[in-house]
Amino acid sequence: MDRREFLRQTGASVGATLLTASTSRAVAARDKIAFAVIGCGGMGRANLRAFLRLPDFECLAVCDVDKNQIALAMDDVKKAGRDPARIQVYEDYRKMLDERKDLDVAVICTPDHHHAYALIHACYSGRNGQGLDIYCEKPLAHNIVEGRAMIQAVRKQKRVCQIGTQQRSGKHFQDAVAFVQSGKLGHVYLCRTWITNNYPPTGCGNPPDEPNPPPGVNYDLWLGPAPKRPFNRARFHWHYRWFWDYGNGLCPDWGVHLNDIILWAMKVQAPLAVHACGGKYEMKDISETPDTLDVTYEYPTFVHLYTVRQGRMHGGFGSRNHGMEFVGTEGTLTLDRNGWVVTWKDGRQEQHGGSEQHFTHVQNFLHCLRNRSVEPNSPIESVHYATNTGHLANISYRVGRKIYWDATQERCYRGYDPVKKVFVHEDMEANAYLFREPRSGWKLPAT
Ligand SMILES: NC(=O)c1ccc[n+]([C@@H]2O[C@H](COP(=O)([O-])OP(=O)(O)OC[C@H]3O[C@@H](n4cnc5c(N)ncnc54)[C@H](O)[C@@H]3O)[C@@H](O)[C@H]2O)c1
Repeated sequence: MDRREFLRQTGASVGATLLTASTSRAVAARDKIAFAVIGCGGMGRANLRAFLRLPDFECLAVCDVDKNQIALAMDDVKKAGRDPARIQVYEDYRKMLDERKDLDVAVICTPDHHHAYALIHACYSGRNGQGLDIYCEKPLAHNIVEGRAMIQAVRKQKRVCQIGTQQRSGKHFQDAVAFVQSGKLGHVYLCRTWITNNYPPTGCGNPPDEPNPPPGVNYDLWLGPAPKRPFNRARFHWHYRWFWDYGNGLCPDWGVHLNDIILWAMKVQAPLAVHACGGKYEMKDISETPDTLDVTYEYPTFVHLYTVRQGRMHGGFGSRNHGMEFVGTEGTLTLDRNGWVVTWKDGRQEQHGGSEQHFTHVQNFLHCLRNRSVEPNSPIESVHYATNTGHLANISYRVGRKIYWDATQERCYRGYDPVKKVFVHEDMEANAYLFREPRSGWKLPAT
């Protein structure tokens, strides 16, 4: 008999003592932590499988607007040796969060434009309305204002919150960051990050809009707060990334992973100025976001260059399709998901291998649920700042000029006075991209 069964069978008196002591402590002490997955696509199911590997977790609900995705999730449940009959299926996460008072954790894996709506709602749901703990996918949010609201909800409700920048749980990332911070590279004056996706030029294709979504899909709920428009397969599962209404392109999609390591290692939160230029040069599809983008981030003591290539890349970047680099006066550290190498100024090289990241990240979340004073490896603030590097690059690209970023106010300016140390001339055109008004019928939940 597990603790939940014990409480059920022994009645309210024992349960009341435990629950009134502290609901949070009750989560920490529970034999089985009950979770629900919101969004059962590629990453939702990867997270579902990882959670089910841990006997501490029990899935009680899955939510998706596409019944076909639910079926795939249920297959994963069976393969994990768990009982699908214990899992209730939902189409609308708002209904699920309002109804279910037996959940402890929400695992949010929808496209980015739902993250803030689902996470904030979850922070005020659950047992006695004290809020669910959260595992939410990156990028943090569709825009910067939503990201800030998510932080407010998590901190006000004192939720344990892990965001899916799983590189932070990789031992070799932790070692490489410690190496940069040790000062052995001397003054690190240049950082570089890059991603080359090597999509064929056909990309997400050129399918026409369709009068109806595929069977089993509630397309209106999929759109959620995004503007209404006809269904198109190329804007739907996975490909939604390449459209401004939902995912904002490869720049934040991968930038949040890559640029996060720069912010972490260099102990900074935000650039002072950002300039991005590029365009859609290679992809012959209906995607909207640039396939080529080069971004310069200015920090007080170093510069960071970020290169985004969605099209083909023949060689270059030492054949690493993604990576991070720290260039110092004594040497250079180059890092990716497979390992890291230090090249000293005399040409000597030190190689270091890679490490597992995703399952370790979920294990770290569990550890924090059990020990509630421990901050998860990817605190929500860190992912807000990393996501913002992607958003700011896109904003600079869209307004076609360099923007100055007042990270304290989270506002864009046209300039910065280094003598007075103040930002000058608010950039109203750029600031229009900081938030997207939701479609009628949707409202970002209050925090
Ligand atoms: N951590 C990582 O390395 C990593 C890797 C891939 C994706 N991701 C992130 O995971 C998220 C999902 O990406 P994906 O590749 O799985 O996309 P996907 O399109 O495969 O899956 C998204 C799922 O969410 C569902 N959905 C949409 N609206 C919903 C709603 N209102 N309620 C419930 N379900 C809804 C869709 O039907 C779909 O099944 C994104 O934020 C993405 O950036 C993270």
